[in-house]
Amino acid sequence: MTLKPYIAGNWKMNLDRKGAVALARALRAEVGEPGDVDVAVFPPFVYLPDVIEALAGSAIAVGAQDVCDRKVGAFTGEVSADMLVDIGATIALVGHSERRHVYGETDALVRGKLDAALAAGLDVILCVGEKLEEREAGQTESVNARQLTAGLSGLSRDDLARITIAYEPVWAIGTGRTASPEQAAEVHSYLRGVVSGLFDQAAAAALRIQYGGSVKADNAAALLASPDVNGALVGGAALEAASFLGIVRYR
Ligand code: PGA
Repeated sequence: MTLKPYIAGNWKMNLDRKGAVALARALRAEVGEPGDVDVAVFPPFVYLPDVIEALAGSAIAVGAQDVCDRKVGAFTGEVSADMLVDIGATIALVGHSERRHVYGETDALVRGKLDAALAAGLDVILCVGEKLEEREAGQTESVNARQLTAGLSGLSRDDLARITIAYEPVWAIGTGRTASPEQAAEVHSYLRGVVSGLFDQAAAAALRIQYGGSVKADNAAALLASPDVNGALVGGAALEAASFLGIVRYR
C-alpha cells in the first residue's frame, strides 16, 4: 500500500501576525486544491485564527503546536482542545521534542494531551525521537518504542486512524544534521513493527510516519524515498513559502 504523503510545517515560536498571514496566503496560492500530498501548518497559538481565516476552504489544514491535557478549568496559560476546535483548528501536535526536552513533558503527559485532542475531535501528530546520547548508547529502538507505546497503547483502531507519527531524532532538529535516508528508513520500519505489535499488521500498514529533523527541499526526496517514510514534519524550512513548497513538491 502506498500512503499519501503528508507534509506539515511547524512554525514554532516564529513570525509575527503579518508574516504568518502572508506565509499562509503564499502557500494557499500554490496549494489551494487537494492534491497528491496532504499539507498542514502549525502556527503559534495567537495567530491561529488569522491563519485559519487565510486558509479557509483551501486544502491546507491548520493545527496547534500543543494542547492541554485537561478539558476546562483553572489551568493558567493553557489552551484546551475544545477551544482549538471552537476556532476551527483540526489537528494538534503532541510530544514535540521541544515540549518533551525543553519543558519536561513526560510520556504520561503527552498521552494525556493525545487523549484530550482525540476526545475533542482533533486529529493528532504524535512526535517521538531519541536524543543523541540515547542513540550513541544504543537506545534508539527502546526510547522510540517506549514513547510510541505510551502514546498509542489501548487506543481503538478508529483513534489510530486519526493519528500520524512523526519520527524526529532530537539530534537532527534545527541542527542541519539530518538522519541519513537509511537511518530514517530503519527507524520508521522498526516503529511500524511496534505499531503492528500493538494493533495489527493492517493498522500499522495504514499509519503514516513522517520524518522530521532538518528536512529541506534538497533532501526531502531522498528521505521520503522509503515506503516507510510517509511525509515530513518541517521546522526551519517551513518558514518561507518557497522552501516549504519545494518540500511539498519533493517528487
Ligand atoms: P527543523 O525542525 O526542520 O528545523 O529541524 C523540525 C521540527 O522540530 O519539527
